[in-house]
Amino acid sequence: ASQDKSDLRSPICCILGHVDTGKTKLLDKIRQTSVQEGEAGGITQQIGATFFPKEALIEKTEVVNKDGSVDVKIPGLLIIDTPGHESFTNLRSRGSSLCNIAILVIDITHGLEPQTIESINMLKMRKTPFIVALNKIDKLDVTEWKVNKDTGFRDTLAQQSKRMQRMFEDRLQHVKMLLMEQGLNSEVYDKNPNPGRIVSIVPTSAVTGEGVPDLLALLVKLTQERMTGSLMYISEPEATILEVKVIEGLGTTIDIVLVNGFLKEGDTIVLCGMNGPIVTNVRALLTPQPMRELRIKSAYVHHKQVKAALGVKISAPGLEKAIAGARMFVANNADEEEYYKDLAMDD
Ligand code: GTP
Ligand code: MG
Ligand code: NA
Repeated sequence: ASQDKSDLRSPICCILGHVDTGKTKLLDKIRQTSVQEGEAGGITQQIGATFFPKEALIEKTEVVNKDGSVDVKIPGLLIIDTPGHESFTNLRSRGSSLCNIAILVIDITHGLEPQTIESINMLKMRKTPFIVALNKIDKLDVTEWKVNKDTGFRDTLAQQSKRMQRMFEDRLQHVKMLLMEQGLNSEVYDKNPNPGRIVSIVPTSAVTGEGVPDLLALLVKLTQERMTGSLMYISEPEATILEVKVIEGLGTTIDIVLVNGFLKEGDTIVLCGMNGPIVTNVRALLTPQPMRELRIKSAYVHHKQVKAALGVKISAPGLEKAIAGARMFVANNADEEEYYKDLAMDD
């Protein structure tokens, strides 16, 4: 089949890590939002989804791309936020099952923690490529760390005192040793001779933005290098239901991640319901603005058609008994409808 460039799909990146390592805060830094501050107890309790269009990726990697070596070809990137609290293993598992690449966030002042190790094991099991964000570098010493807002990691490290540089190096070596104990070789990303075999570490601060452009640039590079061939192109629709939510004026809606394919207004969708399969037609396809979190109520944008990967809110009749976590199918005819009804209930 001929595959033209307009058929490139956006890859999915999932953020995993122990509770309070700064997963949501990192996303807030990139989005220029404050979702984390609005969370009950500062704890994430749902899977999130945020779409970053190509133009935003270009702009937000500019400071570390002066030589133009990062050539953004993907149409965008969908980033899935997950909870780190120990009670949400199922949501971490769901999030990691959707992604093409992952960011494992480690707090540089804490090292590896129980859900860090749980996340590593999930990623190993699924053979998902991942990078480490070694976060909270500003916290190595809040008084002595010299903040260089939103700059590249090497630029800010060069401006730190000898003592801070040594402290960073010590903590880095410690984390590398802990990762080695989990069977992982690791190296700071710009000194990594073999990113295919050695885990790249990007030191970051979600508060000051230091190292955050490096993190995004590396994500773009790796997805483009690793997602070759068919993975890069749009194919049949694939979707997973994240949440079933009642929204004033819309009734019961479902929040989904469209992992692959296109979805149109009017499409027949088939999903698992509490009392049997649900077959209904898409009444409205809604998304938040680009770079806004799907799980946060906002002024939604209406679409006639959407393209993967994307977090989408679907309004349709009869969604009251839909089940979160299950797959959603798109049926093109009566035969497919029957087929997907069985498949939906098998999940
Ligand atoms: P869960 O989703 O609940 O697992 O937590 P999380 O990993 O999303 O962490 P979150 O973004 O909620 O941040 C936890 C706390 O750490 C918040 O108080 C943040 O302000 C703080 N924090 C996150 N990143 C940094 C950082 O780079 N530097 C400093 N100093 N504080 C940070
Ligand atoms: Mg969070
Ligand atoms: Na938190």
